[in-house]
Amino acid sequence: MCGIVGYIGPQPALPILIEGLTRLEYRGYDSAGVALLEGDAIEIRRAEGKLAVLAGQLRDERFAATLGIGHTRWATHGRPSEQNAHPHASHGLALVHNGIIENFVELRERLEQEGFRFASETDTEVIAHLIARHRRQGLAPSQAIRAALAEVRGAYAVAVVFEAEPETLYAARNGSPLVLAKGEGESFLASDIPAVLAHTREMIFMEDGDVAALSAGEITITSLAGEPVARETTHIDWNPVMAEKAGFKHFMLKEIYEQPRAINDTLAGRIHQGEQRVALADLGLDVEFLRTMRRVVMVACGTSWHAALVGKYMVEQLAGVGVEVDIASEFRYRKPIVGPRTLLVAISQSGETADTLAALRQAKAQGATTLSICNVVGSTMTREADATLYTHAGPEIGVASTKAFTTQLVVLYLLALHLGRANGRLSGDDEATLLRDLITLPTMVEEALACAPACERLAKGLAERRDVLYLGRGIHFPLALEGALKLKEISYIHAEGYPAGEMKHGPIALIDEEMPVVCLLPDDDLMEKMLSNVEEVRARDGVPIAITQPALVDTLPEGTEAITVPPCSRYLCPVVMVVPLQLLAYYVALRRGTDVDQPRNLAKSVTVE
Ligand code: G6P
Repeated sequence: MCGIVGYIGPQPALPILIEGLTRLEYRGYDSAGVALLEGDAIEIRRAEGKLAVLAGQLRDERFAATLGIGHTRWATHGRPSEQNAHPHASHGLALVHNGIIENFVELRERLEQEGFRFASETDTEVIAHLIARHRRQGLAPSQAIRAALAEVRGAYAVAVVFEAEPETLYAARNGSPLVLAKGEGESFLASDIPAVLAHTREMIFMEDGDVAALSAGEITITSLAGEPVARETTHIDWNPVMAEKAGFKHFMLKEIYEQPRAINDTLAGRIHQGEQRVALADLGLDVEFLRTMRRVVMVACGTSWHAALVGKYMVEQLAGVGVEVDIASEFRYRKPIVGPRTLLVAISQSGETADTLAALRQAKAQGATTLSICNVVGSTMTREADATLYTHAGPEIGVASTKAFTTQLVVLYLLALHLGRANGRLSGDDEATLLRDLITLPTMVEEALACAPACERLAKGLAERRDVLYLGRGIHFPLALEGALKLKEISYIHAEGYPAGEMKHGPIALIDEEMPVVCLLPDDDLMEKMLSNVEEVRARDGVPIAITQPALVDTLPEGTEAITVPPCSRYLCPVVMVVPLQLLAYYVALRRGTDVDQPRNLAKSVTVE
C-alpha cells in the first residue's frame, strides 16, 4: 500500500509534497521519492528508507517547481531500494503508482524486446514505458495514458507528469484509492484525505475507470474512453486523526474492513483465469522437489501459528502431503527431524519475528528447502528463505493481526492447490472447482462484515465477563484459538480456545450461567457434533454464542445467541468465519475502553526471544 501526493498551483510544490507524504505515514513505507517539473525538465529525487532520509537529502537543494508528484512506497514487487522507489521515468515523463499490475511480466518482456530499458524490478515501470511508447507513436499525453491503461490488468492509482505539458498533472484510478482536491487557484491529488486536509476540505473521490487532468484552476474528469464524467465535490469535516483511519475509530477496525480488498490483492496475478489454474510464478521452487518431497513443516508464532494450523488441513487434504505444525519457539529447541526432503514453511506477517527466523535458519542448516509466507517485502525472512510467497495485505498497523491472517490463509490455500497439482493428487477439474470458490471469497468476506451490528450487540454482555471459552472442530478448531487470542489481546478478558471434542475432558467443569461459550458452527460434516456441544453448554446453563450460517439458526437450542455469516466452501470457510470473531473482540474491547490498536504489553513485531 503506497502513498501518492500531487500538486499544481502557485506555491513551491516540494514542501507541499513532503508534508502530504508525512500524513500518509500510517500506510507504512520503505522508500520515498518526488518528481518536480523544474522549467521544462523533470527532476527526480528518491531515497530508500523513511521519508526523513529523502527530506534530509533535499535540504540543501532549491527547487522553483510549482508542479510535482510524490510517493511513499510499501514494496510489493521488488525489494525496498532507491532504484525501486517511485517516481519511475521514461522519455520525458515521470509516474507514481499505487496498486499491483498483474500482467507486468508479459508487458515487460514485450517492452524489453522493443528496446525499452528497465531500471527497476517494479511492476510500475511498465506503465511509464507503455505511456512513453504511445507518445512515440504520436499520441498526446492524455491519449497515451488511456492507451497504456487499456493494456494493463490489475489495480492502480497513478499520477503522471510530462515535460511536454508543464501546466497539467494527470491521474487515473482503477481499484486503488485516489482523491482529488480543489483549493484557491491550486489543485491536489492524494491516495488519501489526510495528505491534503491542511490545504482544502473540498474533495472529489475518483472512481474506477476515471482519468483526471488537473491544472491550477480546474479539474476535469473523463472516462478511459475519453467521455466527460461528472463527479461530486464532497466537503470533509473530519479531523486529521479521523482522516488517517479513513473515518474508522481504530486501525484494527479499518483493517478488518479492508479484508475483501486485501484478499483480492493477494490473489492478483495468481490465478490463470483462462485455464482456471493456480499461477504461482513467484514461488520459484523446483517442481521436481515439490513432487518428491516427503513432508511439510510449518513454523510460526501467534496469529500466524493459527494460520499454519488451518494450512495443515488445506495441504494435507488437498495435496495429500503430511504437515507438521510447530510453534517456532518450540521447534528451535526440540532438535526437529527435518532434512533435504522437507519443505519448511515459515509464516510471519512481519518477516522479522525472532523465533520464526531462528526456526527457519535451523531448518535451512539441516538441509530443508525453506519457503516464507510474509507480508513485508524485503524482510529478513524473505531474504533468507529459498522462496517467498507474499500476502499483499498492505501494512497492518493494529497490533492484533486481522487482514494478515486472512491473507495468509489465502496463500496457504493457493500453495495447497499448487502442491496438489504438482504431485498429481488434484486433477485439473478439481483445481478449477476449488479456484471458483476462491474467486468468490472477497465477496463472501464482504457479506460477512454485515454481522457487525450483531457482534456489537453481543459484545455488551461479553464485556462484563471474566472468562470466555471458544470451541471449534476440524479446520475451525484453529479459529477457536484465534478468536480467544483476539479477545484476550485487546480486551484483557481471559479466553481459551479448545477443540470442541475436548470440552468433556476439562473445560466442561467451568461451565455455568457466567460462562459464555463461542461455538464455531458451520454447516459441514462435523455440524451435528458441534450442535451436541452447544446442547451440552445449554444443559449446564452456559451461554452459547453460535457463529453459524443462516440455514442452521432454527436448529440451535433455545437460549443460544447466533451470529450468522454466508455459507462458504469447506476449506475457505475459516476465512469467512473469523470475521465475527475479530469484530466480537473489537466491540468488547471498545466497551471496556482499552487501547485497541496498541494493547498493553504487546508488540506488533517481536524481534527478541
Ligand atoms: C506478535 C503480534 C501478533 C503476531 C505475532 C507473530 O505477537 O502481536 O499479532 O501474530 O507477533 O508475528 P509475525 O509478524 O511473525 O506474524
